[in-house]
Amino acid sequence: MSGAKSGPRLGILISGRGSNMAAILKAIEAGTLGAIPAVVLSHNPKAEGLVTAAQQDIPTFAELISEFDSKEAYEAWVVGVLKDHQVDLVILAGYMRLVGPTLLAAFPNRILNIHPSYLPAFKGLHAQRQAVEAGAKESGCSVHVVDDTLDGGPLILQTKVPVLPGDTEASLSERILVQEHQLYPKAIAQYWEKENNRASVN
Ligand code: GRF
Repeated sequence: MSGAKSGPRLGILISGRGSNMAAILKAIEAGTLGAIPAVVLSHNPKAEGLVTAAQQDIPTFAELISEFDSKEAYEAWVVGVLKDHQVDLVILAGYMRLVGPTLLAAFPNRILNIHPSYLPAFKGLHAQRQAVEAGAKESGCSVHVVDDTLDGGPLILQTKVPVLPGDTEASLSERILVQEHQLYPKAIAQYWEKENNRASVN
């Protein structure tokens, strides 16, 4: 990977496909996001995104949560890997697990997530299906800071996406995903800049 050599060091957590991760890596490569992809982790050793990351020479780590005695022990392992790679920001990119107190405490206000709805609407799993079933006229995607609430932390950036007549969960997901890929790199850049400005004023 020959992209940016400055900016926050990112630790990216994925569960599967990793298309948001790929969009972030592409933005770094294109120079539109100043960040360093330090490490990619998954609780799913079969996550396709691990292959994408490895092809770009980014260190990858994967362990099943069931290999650990507890969720705390699993998260302690995650924190260890993130710290070993001097990660500044933890990026949840299709990470389908709730973040517990161990990870939150190690990276307060330093964990970001993308959710496929215009929050606070349709929190939790199957957000696109929820939007279709509710007969919503619009939904979207949101990037927020992770706290101890479900999809409830401070919002960074959001994009609206119309729900079209005849939309299914799949068709709406596909159109929202296109917007997610645009939104996440922008939100990371904006959040990091704001946090740095705040730090330099204090
Ligand atoms: C995305 O829609 C994301 O918002 C949601 O899960 C999906 C993951 O997709 N949390 P990918 O793994 O980034 O392709």
